Amino acid sequence: MKNGLLSYFPCEAMKYAAARFGTPLFIYSRELLEKQTDTYIRAFSGTDVLFCYAMKANSCRGLCEIIADKDFGADVVSGGELFRALRAGFPHNKIIFSGVGKTEEELEYAINEDILFINAESFEELKLIEKIAARLAKKIRFSVRINPDVDPHTHSYISTGRAGSKFGVSPDEAFAMYAYASKSEFLSAAAVHFHIGSQIASAEPFILAVKRMTAFLDRLAEFGISPEYADIGGGWGAAEGCEMSSPDGLRKAAEPLLARGKKLILEPGRSIAAPCGILLTKILYEKENGGKKYLITDGGMNDFLRPSLYGAKHPVALIKKDAGQAEPFIGGGADIISGQAFEVAGPICESGDYFAHDISMPESSGGDLIAILSAGAYGFSMSSNYNSRPRAAEVILENGKMRLLRRRETIQDIISLEL
Ligand code: LLP
Repeated sequence: MKNGLLSYFPCEAMKYAAARFGTPLFIYSRELLEKQTDTYIRAFSGTDVLFCYAMKANSCRGLCEIIADKDFGADVVSGGELFRALRAGFPHNKIIFSGVGKTEEELEYAINEDILFINAESFEELKLIEKIAARLAKKIRFSVRINPDVDPHTHSYISTGRAGSKFGVSPDEAFAMYAYASKSEFLSAAAVHFHIGSQIASAEPFILAVKRMTAFLDRLAEFGISPEYADIGGGWGAAEGCEMSSPDGLRKAAEPLLARGKKLILEPGRSIAAPCGILLTKILYEKENGGKKYLITDGGMNDFLRPSLYGAKHPVALIKKDAGQAEPFIGGGADIISGQAFEVAGPICESGDYFAHDISMPESSGGDLIAILSAGAYGFSMSSNYNSRPRAAEVILENGKMRLLRRRETIQDIISLEL
């Protein structure tokens, strides 16, 4: 079976990278990364739009620099991400700061860096922003994240737009916040915001959420408040093993906001970064237990958590170490092929440490490589040192060459902060 994403990661290049940089290893394709950003640019051409890449998906400097070069801004959710966004070259006036629990220090840092605006997620946060602004004698651009009570039909852990979730505030509460801010000399309403979830497969939830946002904007307008931007968050899907789905539906969903003369903001993360990355890992052992066959790899859930945490089905590809293989063998993901079934599992001391269940694979042996597809988003950025494992290196394939973006951690790196 063929997979389109794999055509960007030739077998020989993967074998070379494994030999040169070791495994587990994240490999990104610059060509595919640029293709995903360009897909957004094309789909929204002719509109007044700012794409703010969600740094949480993958904040590696080398990748972010490429995205910043496409005139994207950044969506950050911590002081750390703000620092990394600025370091990667995202302009101050194209950075927005979201997140449900920003500290006073983080808010002050963002205010001092003069970013585009801060997304407030509670009345208390708005008042804290005002207090800091007053202390610094500045007028701060803000937005309020409204919770439109829309079901995005995605995994419950990444569904954020339903009433009762910890994210955002109800339209009524948001209205009271804008009304309060209109009387403050330190607050200026720049935008209205929502973000309803992640890995969303259709435009329907966005259409519904935009409807609620336009109703909210109309209510604000009657009160004489007219924020410049309408920010519809991120969340557009890229199914595991595929490039992002066409964002044309998303553009259509946003039409009512454009028709009201709003500047549009999108915060895509996964759809940009996921397809362009793989996690390359080596088979250490094969074993059988109770009728189940296992391929034990040197990468584990500390390197790539999505299968363990969300039950995500990422296709895996087998690259034999013997020379002459034109195409990797692929299995798993949505298409489970019957035949010799394997579990692909990591070395971590947890039964939930696996990459794929019940996938069909040709015979393999120790030293062969396994590539886990669509690992470019929420891969490295969610990795950890669990089991005292140094985190993987990251490289990018560009113009036929591999460039190291982040060296592999060492055990010294891990213990260096311990006293
Ligand atoms: N904006 C805000 C305010 C967000 O909270 C998020 C993601 C995004 C934008 C970007 O969403 P995206 O376009 O990437 O779907 N770790 C999970 C995903 C968590 C997403 C959290 N928020 C996963 O691996 O599926």
